[in-house]
Amino acid sequence: MPLFEKKETSILGIDIGTSSIKVIEVDRKKEGHALLTYGFVEDFHRDLRNLGREDAKLTSQAIRSVVERSRCRSKRAIAALPTYAVFTSLISLPQLSGEELDSAVHWEAKKIIPLPLDEIVLDYRILNAPAKGEKGLKLPFGKKSASEEEEPQLKILITGAAKETVEKYTEIFGLSGLELAGLETEMFALSRSIIGSQPGEIMIVEIGSAVTDIIIMENGIPFFGRSLEQGGSSITRAIVNSLHINEKRAEQLKRDIGIRTGSQDTSGTGGIPDVIRSALEPIVHEVRYTLDLYKSHSLTPSGKASGTIEKIILTGGSALMPGIAEYFVSALDARVFIGDPWSYIQYPADLKAVLETIGPKFSVAIGLAIRE
Ligand SMILES: Nc1ncnc2c1ncn2[C@@H]1O[C@H](COP(=O)(O)OP(=O)(O)OP(=O)(O)O)[C@@H](O)[C@H]1O
Ligand SMILES: [Mg+2]
Repeated sequence: MPLFEKKETSILGIDIGTSSIKVIEVDRKKEGHALLTYGFVEDFHRDLRNLGREDAKLTSQAIRSVVERSRCRSKRAIAALPTYAVFTSLISLPQLSGEELDSAVHWEAKKIIPLPLDEIVLDYRILNAPAKGEKGLKLPFGKKSASEEEEPQLKILITGAAKETVEKYTEIFGLSGLELAGLETEMFALSRSIIGSQPGEIMIVEIGSAVTDIIIMENGIPFFGRSLEQGGSSITRAIVNSLHINEKRAEQLKRDIGIRTGSQDTSGTGGIPDVIRSALEPIVHEVRYTLDLYKSHSLTPSGKASGTIEKIILTGGSALMPGIAEYFVSALDARVFIGDPWSYIQYPADLKAVLETIGPKFSVAIGLAIRE
């Protein structure tokens, strides 16, 4: 037994995407989270839905190599399951607690999750817990409080993932020589690094390589998420098909020219912004549809939401494309910003410029690393 043991405060946030792996190590101290190191690999292509044995091995080798190159010290990592691999549902239940609540959640989950419960890892969060001191407040003269007259329902967010998927992730991290200290959904990681406790009704649109996630947050709670199979790789493919050039060149043109109105198209092939605009159309369409859906529904954690999204925050590697925020503003007539996941982390000032150029790519990894 060691004479004394220094409690390890650093942890890794590891985001395994379809086209890249992002790793960040932070020191979690009382004063806040401090960046220790970070790294990523981009020439990685895995279909995360069908990770066979060989893929799992290659993925674990890629993780090990980024971790070593970035000189990470901790062996403990938190990872995320893609939004599409996780079943999420918002339910209402009477005010229960302990085992009663547990059992009620399981009964509800049985009705809505399309897999047998013994094949699922189930988790849930109460979204509208009464504020401290609110419960048990006695009014004088035998008057009944509003909550006593009409017991407010608990709003609970259920999340479930297939046990097989969770086991695969555990195996991948084991093969990389790391301990999987936590596994959660990309939706929660993003909400932490992009929104934190900002109040209001906010939409996050995470455009990765193969997938785009659309998330709605109400007062810091992510209660709605949907995924569509479109992202940066469909944009690159559209450029390849339209200009008959190879993928490497198409990728470079996408990053250099993007969709900035009036941007100088020096490729000599013309029309890049137009090709990108039409490749982005399915994403814009889905965002518009989700905004309309949200407007017409009152199923929100507090039930007090206005139904109007105040702002849309873009993130994911594809949010680095020149002109993308301006394009979303004009297509949706909304306030649109690029997310800054570094805002919840302390880092040396001379790294600012470099970190800003990769920020949106690291949103999930950062959100994982700063999980309490
Ligand atoms: N500077 C840039 N300009 C435009 N696109 C970029 C830029 N940098 C990265 N991308 C695009 O971002 C995508 C990668 O983003 P990200 O790392 O968020 O995806 P991923 O996590 O690997 O994939 P997914 O989340 O879909 O599984 C790629 O399609 C890449 O072409
Ligand atoms: Mg991703």
